[in-house]
Amino acid sequence: MKVRVDSPPPLPAEYDVVIEAGALDDLPRRITASGTADRYAIISPDPVAALHGEPLLVAMRNAGLDAELLAFPDGEICKTRETWAALTDRMLALRFGRDSCVIAVGGGVAGDLAGFVAATYMRGVPVIQVPTTLLAMIDAAVGGKTGVDTDAGKNLVGAFHPPRLVVMDPVVLGTLPDAAFHAGLAEAVKHGAMLDAAYFDWIADRASAILQRDTAELQQLVGRSVELKAGVVAGDPFDRGRRAVLNFGHTVAHALERQAAYALPHGLAVSMGMVVEALAGEALGVTEAGTAGRLVDGLRACGLPTVAPAGDTHELMAAMRIDKKAHRDAVHCALPRRIGEAAQAGRGRWTHEVADAMMMDVLMRASRGLDVV
Ligand SMILES: NC(=O)c1ccc[n+]([C@@H]2O[C@H](COP(=O)([O-])OP(=O)(O)OC[C@H]3O[C@@H](n4cnc5c(N)ncnc54)[C@H](O)[C@@H]3O)[C@@H](O)[C@H]2O)c1
Ligand SMILES: [Zn+2]
Repeated sequence: MKVRVDSPPPLPAEYDVVIEAGALDDLPRRITASGTADRYAIISPDPVAALHGEPLLVAMRNAGLDAELLAFPDGEICKTRETWAALTDRMLALRFGRDSCVIAVGGGVAGDLAGFVAATYMRGVPVIQVPTTLLAMIDAAVGGKTGVDTDAGKNLVGAFHPPRLVVMDPVVLGTLPDAAFHAGLAEAVKHGAMLDAAYFDWIADRASAILQRDTAELQQLVGRSVELKAGVVAGDPFDRGRRAVLNFGHTVAHALERQAAYALPHGLAVSMGMVVEALAGEALGVTEAGTAGRLVDGLRACGLPTVAPAGDTHELMAAMRIDKKAHRDAVHCALPRRIGEAAQAGRGRWTHEVADAMMMDVLMRASRGLDVV
């Protein structure tokens, strides 16, 4: 299937997201069909470069295209300005000109990093995103955000740089470690919880086939999540309004991740964070009663955690306040009205203030897992 992303000014972008089993096999043809370039820089982390970058390099050269493979060390720890500098230096040394195109092959780290290289190389060259993790497919590769981490925090230096084309092959998810697969699945549940009740129910229903990485189910999963994310992003390309609904669960998740010194995978933190925030929504009267319970059922079907760790709640509150989504010290969360529908807070506002005492209370309840489990 193909999803067309069409966002109007102020960030005009039009591109296709191809989601198809076997799509990687004829990547060179798809790439040239989307527009030509003199040279192609395939940017990929070491393990993915070996798995998918090398075969792509060979296929592109066989198709008569001028391509180089630029591998970089794997991991979030390498999503830095230093790696960006090393990659751009290598492109300069290889004499890539202005008529070049970057191809990002890998997870969200590769997409963000290679996207930022493309956004800045010679003041901007096109990027083609070829995401290979579930998270990168349903989240990172669509929407045009690129960037790197700094000591001060994640994604603090970057640019909006929509891709020219995105190609997703669900078959590559077969080699993804379980933990990374689950992390992506949590974001898919989030899409259902905030935007599409039927999709939420479908995920819960088909969870066991999805977990077994059935290709047809994965294609449907990725396809629907991409449609939902693309719809939100098109209406709010610079993340100033409704795109906030995609942050459901993330205010608490970021604090949990920080408290665990990033040893807790993001997707698992989002899973717990959604339960805590749904409970807060219910306590606020913004979220229909019973929503947190339904969410717990859906997440459990997917093998995702629903009980928050019993940590120091004061420390968690402090971590929440330094989150960039906290305005003027108060904690804000994007919340569902009910499963499948986001709750608007006011004209153009999609986050709700949660008082400290209420947040601490729901954190404690979620850590006991009593009320909703
Ligand atoms: N730009 C955005 O809008 C956006 C949105 C969400 C997340 N992100 C970013 O995405 C990053 C997280 O992405 P991620 O979860 O994909 O992590 P990741 O890119 O680190 O990939 C996870 C691991 O899986 C490996 N891998 C990738 N594809 C594989 C495959 N097919 N088979 C086997 N192993 C494979 C990678 O080498 C890596 O070790 C974070 O940096 C986050 O900030 C960006
Ligand atoms: Zn997330």
